[in-house]
Amino acid sequence: MRWTTRLATMVPLLALALLAGCAEKADQPRVLAGADAGRGLALVRANGCAACHAVPGVAWPRGEVGGPLAGFADRPLIAGRLPNQPRTLVAWLRDPPALSPGAAMPATGLSEAQARDVAAYLYTLDGR
Ligand code: HEC
Repeated sequence: MRWTTRLATMVPLLALALLAGCAEKADQPRVLAGADAGRGLALVRANGCAACHAVPGVAWPRGEVGGPLAGFADRPLIAGRLPNQPRTLVAWLRDPPALSPGAAMPATGLSEAQARDVAAYLYTLDGR
């Protein structure tokens, strides 16, 4: 094979590999260093989230005020209006109205560390 032909086949392959790399990155779970999803689930149970939300991993209650949290990790937005990123989610989980005036979810009293654990749990809730 002449080098020009070889180059012509390699360039599209390289572009594809780069694109695949990007797609993979966007698909990765959002990481909260040091947070523990298991503790997060315990905190979800202890803090009454399920009074307002149906939460996978919590059998009862399955409240309907706040909407189900199944598949939350796949949603691009929090409450339809804030970017679903770790830092924003942690702030939301502590005090939604402070972050977004008019938010219909009350402040939770979670500490920063607790909210990080809860966020880690919510990010395990993907659609798969
Ligand atoms: C008193 C009811 C209530 C409680 C308790 C409550 N929430 Fe909410 N939550 C809501 C409502 C209502 C919304 C929608 C807010 C809005 O759109 O303004 C919401 C929104 C959310 C969202 C965004 C959901 C989405 O689909 O974008 C998350 C995540 C969430 N709550 C997690 C929690 C967690 C975790 C707890 C417990 C620490 C909790 N909530 C406790 C009522 C509640």
